[in-house]
Amino acid sequence: MNKAFVKFSLVILVLLHALFIRAQVAVTWTPVQPGIWKAVIGKPESISLLKAADVSAYEKGFALLPSVGFPLDKKEIVVRQRDGKIYLRFPLQKEEKIYGFGLNFQTVNQRGRVLDLHVDHYGGKDNGRTHAPVPFYVSSGGYGVLIDAARYMTVYAGSAVRVDSEHPPKLYDRNTDKDWSAQPYSDAVEVLVPAQGLEVYVFAGPSPMNVVQRYNLMNGGGCLPPKWGLGFTERMPTLSSQRDIVGEAKLFEQHDFPLDFIGVEPGWQSMAYPCTFEWDKQRFPNPSGFLKELSAMGVRANLWTNPYISPKASLYPLMKGLAGSHTVWNGLVPDMALPQARKLLKEHFLKEHINIGVSGYKIDEIDGFDNWLWPDVAIFPSGYSGEQMRQVYGLLMQRMTTGWFRERNQRTYGLIRASNAGASSFPYVIYDDYYSHRDFITALINSSFAGVLWTPEVRASESAEEWVRRMQSVCFSPMAMLNAWADGTKPWSFPEVEGAVKEVASLRMQLIPYIYSTYAQYRWEGKPPFRAMSLVEGSGGEDQRDQYMMGDDVLVAPMFTGEKFRKVYLPAGKWYDFYTGELAGEHEIITITPGLDKIPLFVKDGGIIPMMPPRRQAPVPGQKVHLLIRHYGKANGSFALYDDDGVSFDYEKGAYSFVTLSVQRDSNGNLAGSMSDPQPGKPYGYTKEVSWVFMTK
Ligand code: GAL
Repeated sequence: MNKAFVKFSLVILVLLHALFIRAQVAVTWTPVQPGIWKAVIGKPESISLLKAADVSAYEKGFALLPSVGFPLDKKEIVVRQRDGKIYLRFPLQKEEKIYGFGLNFQTVNQRGRVLDLHVDHYGGKDNGRTHAPVPFYVSSGGYGVLIDAARYMTVYAGSAVRVDSEHPPKLYDRNTDKDWSAQPYSDAVEVLVPAQGLEVYVFAGPSPMNVVQRYNLMNGGGCLPPKWGLGFTERMPTLSSQRDIVGEAKLFEQHDFPLDFIGVEPGWQSMAYPCTFEWDKQRFPNPSGFLKELSAMGVRANLWTNPYISPKASLYPLMKGLAGSHTVWNGLVPDMALPQARKLLKEHFLKEHINIGVSGYKIDEIDGFDNWLWPDVAIFPSGYSGEQMRQVYGLLMQRMTTGWFRERNQRTYGLIRASNAGASSFPYVIYDDYYSHRDFITALINSSFAGVLWTPEVRASESAEEWVRRMQSVCFSPMAMLNAWADGTKPWSFPEVEGAVKEVASLRMQLIPYIYSTYAQYRWEGKPPFRAMSLVEGSGGEDQRDQYMMGDDVLVAPMFTGEKFRKVYLPAGKWYDFYTGELAGEHEIITITPGLDKIPLFVKDGGIIPMMPPRRQAPVPGQKVHLLIRHYGKANGSFALYDDDGVSFDYEKGAYSFVTLSVQRDSNGNLAGSMSDPQPGKPYGYTKEVSWVFMTK
């Protein structure tokens, strides 16, 4: 090779290197909330996940959290801009685990994975395509990162190895070393975002729970459902008529089975897939009479819909210039970023449904699949691309419908099939058609790292055992739901386990005072109501994918079909059997062999569980309910019991009560319970007389 050529090549290489280095973007971190910093990279796009959610922080909630400094070495966060894309790199320590990156179904620790974050129906693999591919991760090291861009992004969550790494993996010879691995050690999370600009947030802890709290508080605090939303719900077969539905509600009364709201599936509309949003005159000749009849039984109606507007809908001609360039099932895709499109929907939905008594919606089919959803080549009149819309459509739908109810000072609780970052305060629960019981529980665990709620809904089962096991899990989730749209199943469909199913549904109802207070924690403190074990203090960073916490005190260990026994990990401290009050173990893995009739539940030492007598429906405003307060173990305890009217937003103006329940040893060494007085004039739905039950003898 000639010398001049070598020289020339070297110069080119040096230049290229300089260019590459220059592509590195200087990053400035600005504090935005206590323990949260933001960096603006490039020129952020006019739509992003947080911009779509458009929620302000619940600032008061931060007061309870410890003050903290920036949790990472700023020099180790590297940002580059090249090729119209943004390259992000965050450091990882050897022992760190990575949680989050959205609603994954099979894995809890994401370290080592490659994920393409993309709103989609979950397809059986944790590859980033899911209903809520939230670009937020929580490190076991006690900090978190959120990338706010409405783009499909690729995440290398500790899987990519750089030549210039300061912590390179060991070199092994595959021929001779059994330690050789196809995926050597990586010391970074790297993310590729196809955008000209974006915003990145870093959250401090110090604990992983504190990180999650800060994330949820920044996004408005968690949602507080209406009390009725915590009761049992069944969704009716697709073509049910109003008479069938009223009949079903009566059947629930006859079976003395809980029912607070009922799901009305596609057949209420005169046409579905695409939809008219208009009542079918044959099946629903008198919608307002139908809703009144249900309401007289204390039952609310939730309407299924997808957003695609049928050419037969009265809204079609009005929406024509306000929809995307492509159709879904021949229906228009309304451009939810346009105020005019939202206004038309609002007018129609209020007049036709909400004003006559509809309590909420199930918003279906906005996640995927690619084969039928609008394609990425679609464009929308707002100027947003098919890709951007795909990432935010679920957020826009939640924000719009939540606003409709809020303006009426009425809380709603519904279902949604797509969501993303910024959704913590939206009163929606994610569900899907993928029907793996075990994976449903892992999704419930992972929902706690993503600021979303998830229900492991029950549809049908192959055996009585599967039926009762699924029913038990769903009663310990954000929405206790039987989705009978396809099969017409009933809670009592398997007579062999009818008693056990009724028992767990009744237990769910009895636990409403505890569960409602747990949601109050979500609302005011940002603590997710159903949470991963790794968010528990003293958990030792364990990553169980089949057990979780409901609130601070109750550990839930669901059983799956075919299992006669299972292992349960008990974090630090003593844990007691919920049903008997007996000691179950202390910071250890136990093996249990429960019968079919119960879902294994454990309470931590000193745990206080406020319950109420069995009932079919959640308490309504003005009702006074007797409290049965259980205490477990030997330790003192205290519990913040929350209450308000259960239906309105008056709590935001101070119309709520917090009562402290405490258990302490008296001078004789006996446990005794006491409670603070509710503030006069504030809504409080419990009687003054309470019963204390000391479960551990
Ligand atoms: C599915 C949905 C089901 C049910 C069904 C009705 O997309 O996941 O829960 O609502 O549509 O057609």
